[in-house]
Amino acid sequence: MFDQDRVADLVCHLLPGRAAAAVQPVEPSTNRPPSVYKVTLDDGRAIAIKTASASSSADAAGISIATEAAVLSRLGSLGCNTPPVVGFDATLGALATEWLEGPTLERKLSTDGPNAIDVELIMREFLAIEIGLDSARKRFDDARNKAARSSLVKETESTFQSVRSAARSVAEVSGRSPSAAEDAANELRRQVCEGAWTLGSRDYNASNIMLSSKGPSFIDFSAIGADWAGRRVGGYLIATGPGRKDGNFITALDQRAGLTYERLGNAVWQERPAGALLDAHFLTAVLYSIERLQNAVTTPERPDSHTLLKAWPNPDERLSRLNELVHTRLYPNPTADRLRSALG
Ligand SMILES: Nc1ncnc2c1ncn2[C@@H]1O[C@H](COP(=O)(O)OP(=O)(O)O)[C@@H](O)[C@H]1O
Ligand SMILES: [Mg+2]
Repeated sequence: MFDQDRVADLVCHLLPGRAAAAVQPVEPSTNRPPSVYKVTLDDGRAIAIKTASASSSADAAGISIATEAAVLSRLGSLGCNTPPVVGFDATLGALATEWLEGPTLERKLSTDGPNAIDVELIMREFLAIEIGLDSARKRFDDARNKAARSSLVKETESTFQSVRSAARSVAEVSGRSPSAAEDAANELRRQVCEGAWTLGSRDYNASNIMLSSKGPSFIDFSAIGADWAGRRVGGYLIATGPGRKDGNFITALDQRAGLTYERLGNAVWQERPAGALLDAHFLTAVLYSIERLQNAVTTPERPDSHTLLKAWPNPDERLSRLNELVHTRLYPNPTADRLRSALG
């Protein structure tokens, strides 16, 4: 962890001629040391200083900071509403961006609820970023394209081991056939894996969107890689109440959001059924979370269970909420509906 004097030294290094008048750590959303500081400069401007995680090696820290600085600069030059970079040093593992005043989407959803959110504006900004990073994907040659896709498909297959297991147990509890639920989950996996992947953030959660007076602003681009766009946008739009005893899953995704994403997404990617894929990824994420949480409850002594239960400390309330979300349809999708009805 960087102490505040160290952050003040970083400021002098990253912004020659300036000094820090005040340094304040940003409360991290989970149980880890703060990595972001709000710094008020001697000229009154506020900036965010992000320091690479202490657990990563110096090389990895440098790469993540350099990646984030490059992505933010590129997206900013394309007109995306990302925070301007004001300085960075990969060797020191530090990045300075303009401070964005406003709550994160995570906070806004958990305090004011989904009706307080302009989902269309967030989706528009999301798609602008997808388009911005697509130019980098287009430079991949065939071999790199294939490798990216096959590693994503492998990861998705491993996710679906959990999804299948959750589908069987939910079906069993409601007196349905576990094997029919498993078959329907396999069909959903095929639908997901037939989608096109895109290049973008691999860390997509509602704490990575700031709602400032200039509109939604996506932050945290230290990990970039291939993923399904529907999975990414779904992850961004669900608040998870990390570490909060009264926390739960609150999502801005509903049928209206599904229709909006279909309309906006299809204008960008003509060949892809955006709404149905969003629905498929949402159901996948809900079942995956059910499985992880159920496992954590039954084997609390495992280190990964302990970590999850710290992030999601009220598993019973959360499991009942997830069981409701299983039946939240975002867009007509016969494949997902078949699984929903197999779950009972
Ligand atoms: N430019 C910024 N302006 C205002 N707050 C920021 C800014 N950058 C980060 N934050 C705050 O710090 C938190 C963590 O930043 P983030 O870049 O997501 O790092 P990480 O999640 O890796 O710790 C964000 O959720 C947000 O609350
Ligand atoms: Mg983050």
